[in-house]
Amino acid sequence: MKILICGSKGQLGWELMRQGNHFDIMGLDLPELNITDRKNIAACTKDFSPDLLINAAAYTSVDGAESDADTAFAVNRDGPACLAAFCKEKGIPLIHISTDFVFDGTKTFPYTEDDPVSPLGIYGKSKAEGEDAVRNTLPEYIIIRTAWLYGVHGHNFVKTMLRLGREREELAVVADQKGCPTFAGELAGAVLKIAEQFPESGGIPWGTYHYCGRGITSWHGFAEKIMEYARPFFPIRAKKIRAVTTADYPTPARRPAYSALDCTKIRENFAVEIPDWEVSLEKTIREMAEMNKEESAD
Ligand SMILES: NC(=O)c1ccc[n+]([C@@H]2O[C@H](COP(=O)([O-])OP(=O)(O)OC[C@H]3O[C@@H](n4cnc5c(N)ncnc54)[C@H](OP(=O)(O)O)[C@@H]3O)[C@@H](O)[C@H]2O)c1
Repeated sequence: MKILICGSKGQLGWELMRQGNHFDIMGLDLPELNITDRKNIAACTKDFSPDLLINAAAYTSVDGAESDADTAFAVNRDGPACLAAFCKEKGIPLIHISTDFVFDGTKTFPYTEDDPVSPLGIYGKSKAEGEDAVRNTLPEYIIIRTAWLYGVHGHNFVKTMLRLGREREELAVVADQKGCPTFAGELAGAVLKIAEQFPESGGIPWGTYHYCGRGITSWHGFAEKIMEYARPFFPIRAKKIRAVTTADYPTPARRPAYSALDCTKIRENFAVEIPDWEVSLEKTIREMAEMNKEESAD
């Protein structure tokens, strides 16, 4: 099966490329591929006719979107619309990635795929409209909402905490927003496992799914675990992580206070595993430490 990965240089795209080499796989990202440009998509796929398209490309700056709504909507709404139209024309399915930030965070137990969306900021709104664009264009789609994504490649909360933990003795991290940290490598594994089921199985249950790490924490709880797992490998100076409130730490975008996702549907329909977020984090920090050693030796 030939798979085109859009956004192949991002956290998730990079992992899809790393793990997906048992497929005939092509990865594209800016500047070669711009998902908002239909002609460009067609030109990029002239010599590689995919059987499946996976969209990991997105505008992911939650705060940046508040002052750059045009770009956020172009990439997160119009981009998926272009890709879905391309897939429809070619008669191929699309796996598209979305976010927990489509929800407003007023629930107190995990969100299911049937809960109504009600985004608080431009990023979440642009992603919600991207989901609709896919649903309204193409019957054969899988939308996977994920949350609090981090990987060994790219920018993320784990890497920011590792840097700050080495620089400062005390950090302040928000404790009143709760969600589910998700390792990009495991999300990529789940996406590829779904892709593996495409050729054999006639009855793919198309639709919207949730995938995130198992267990719920706050950004503060996440930061504490990052420091605990990093201490054996990195020169961490931080002795204290102060718990602060969202009100103490104002940001341009409002964020949901609670955005845990219920992953029952994806587990039951595609037999994907939902690993414990703490186990995944510990493994990833070990891998980051190994990569750090290799880079220092070069
Ligand atoms: N990061 C999170 O915490 C999080 C949480 C929930 C859901 N998600 C979703 O998960 C998916 C993967 O996120 P990620 O963290 O892997 O994202 P990422 O690391 O920011 O990667 C996104 C990639 O898309 C590229 N891109 C941006 N605009 C493009 C365009 N017009 N055409 C083609 N490529 C373009 C980016 O290039 P540039 O870097 O050059 O812009 C980047 O390489 C996204 O759908 C995101 O919304 C992420």
